[in-house]
Amino acid sequence: MAEGPLHDMGGNVSGKVILGTKPGCRMDIPAPCSVVIFGASGDLTRRKIIPSLYRLFAIDLLPSSFFVIGTARTPISDSAFRDSMQEAVKDAFSEDFSESSWQVFSEMLYYTSVEYDVQDAYVGLRDKLLALEKTHGTRGNRIYYLATPPAVYEPVIKNLGIAGLSKEDGGYRHIVIEKPFGSDLESARHLNRTLAASFAEHQIYRMDHYLAKETVQNILMFRFANSLFEPVWNMRYIDHVQITVSETLGVEHRAGYYETAGVIRDMFQNHIFQLLAMTAMEPPAIFNAESVRDEKIKVFKSVRPFNLEDLPSQVVEGQYDKGTMEGKEVPAYRNEPGVSPESTTPTYTALKVHIDNWRWSGVPFYLRSGKRLSMRKAEISIHFRPVPHLMFSHTMEESIEPNVLILRVQPDEGIGLHFQAKNSGSRVCLNTVLMNFSYQNAFLLDGYERVLLDCMQGDQMLFVRSDGEEQTWVLLTPLIERLAADTDVRPGIFPNYSAGSSGPVQAEELLKRDGRAWRPL
Ligand code: NDP
Ligand code: BG6
Repeated sequence: MAEGPLHDMGGNVSGKVILGTKPGCRMDIPAPCSVVIFGASGDLTRRKIIPSLYRLFAIDLLPSSFFVIGTARTPISDSAFRDSMQEAVKDAFSEDFSESSWQVFSEMLYYTSVEYDVQDAYVGLRDKLLALEKTHGTRGNRIYYLATPPAVYEPVIKNLGIAGLSKEDGGYRHIVIEKPFGSDLESARHLNRTLAASFAEHQIYRMDHYLAKETVQNILMFRFANSLFEPVWNMRYIDHVQITVSETLGVEHRAGYYETAGVIRDMFQNHIFQLLAMTAMEPPAIFNAESVRDEKIKVFKSVRPFNLEDLPSQVVEGQYDKGTMEGKEVPAYRNEPGVSPESTTPTYTALKVHIDNWRWSGVPFYLRSGKRLSMRKAEISIHFRPVPHLMFSHTMEESIEPNVLILRVQPDEGIGLHFQAKNSGSRVCLNTVLMNFSYQNAFLLDGYERVLLDCMQGDQMLFVRSDGEEQTWVLLTPLIERLAADTDVRPGIFPNYSAGSSGPVQAEELLKRDGRAWRPL
């Protein structure tokens, strides 16, 4: 077989950069379009949406015919909106901010105030859209981005439908829905029904920004584009899997939302279950949005329902106490602004999950996520079984560490394989060594940049389908409800981990009972 050249993704294998750029990997510039942001006076617009659109513009990935209309109830002028967004972009990019790029980009930003539940407001919005579409030549292609609190989703979706703004007459009309997608199974179903009354499924983009992280997408490439790993990706060779998303941040300014959500709604129903599905799914016959999403649903349907009569063997919850982080005292969750001093909201959860199918029978998946932990880290680690026969046991005192494959989602995005290698010298002495691939120095799009681009391209692969949202709620709603019903015990156990620690000690027990241990944070 002829050997082809190695191609550079800007990545780095064992410190050695491989040069060359593979043709065909360049990103396409989408067709002309506009983005209408609902909730444009808010935090998400400032921190993520506008900075992401600005960066796409700065790296020449936005169409040249493009504009944004920001909408919210607050009445402000186009120029005040542009000024406020300039501050936001400067905050996001500091030294990478370019005054000249901003001048051109800012001329594509407009603002109009909208009372979300007033129907006439949408007629005004439609008139403004039609006029700007003529000026900018965006051919009627539109993205409606719902960056409002979830309570506002329903009136916006309904009114877009009533005003005829969801109809695809001469251009696409896509709608992006932020998380949280419902707060339980019933509310998620209701939101899906509301969406379906005005938009077809191909128009609906349910956001999960974890799916857009480069390394999360790479899980599928790694599994299905290499023949090496797939044959051992099953219960015969894998002992267990760990999925960790640990954060150093506390609740910040989001107590209003977080107090009613808690960590299972905030992180598990979406990000962590999506990571689980990508790790556990079967190979789809073809790599397209529908096939990938079909396979993910099969995983969710195979997850064993939690045994509500025996939660301690499957779940550990925690809430952070005060502690020291990077040399600074930080408050307990209950002393954060907007949080009740008696709050029973969990900020940490560890779950043990089983997937009842041929591939994963008997292989536990341990999932954990928490705020105010010692490290910011998201990773999936695949823990292989030990070697079947220890032929070195008479010459070596220590047991041999099984192989571990680590898919690092963030930071230091990449893949590591821990394996055994002999020390140099005549003694038989093994060391665990690391073979490492790192995306360090690679050109990476931020999750929001990627999903905005995909939404413009009409690619739903990185978005969650209606049945995907519902199926995760089918699993988690009974668990959340049962845990909430136990609030009489929670005030006693919370807080149960210090800020800056690796979480509650009970989480260590969850694995210890099975003769296993978490990877250190
Ligand atoms: P904000 O609380 O900042 O709200 C956005 C805007 O919505 C506000 O500026 C306000 O504009 C309007 N608004 C707020 N409350 C109401 C209300 N009760 N009725 C009508 N309008 C209201 O939200 P974020 O920007 O933080 O988040 C937007 C969405 O994105 C949410 O669904 C959130 O869960 C999700 N999200 C946010 C993340 C973040 O990092 N911020 C991360 C992931 C998801 P005005 O008063 O001018 O109308
Ligand atoms: C959001 C959660 O979806 O994800 C936040 O609402 C969390 O609570 C955030 O902090 C984590 O995202 P990232 O990309 O910083 O890991």
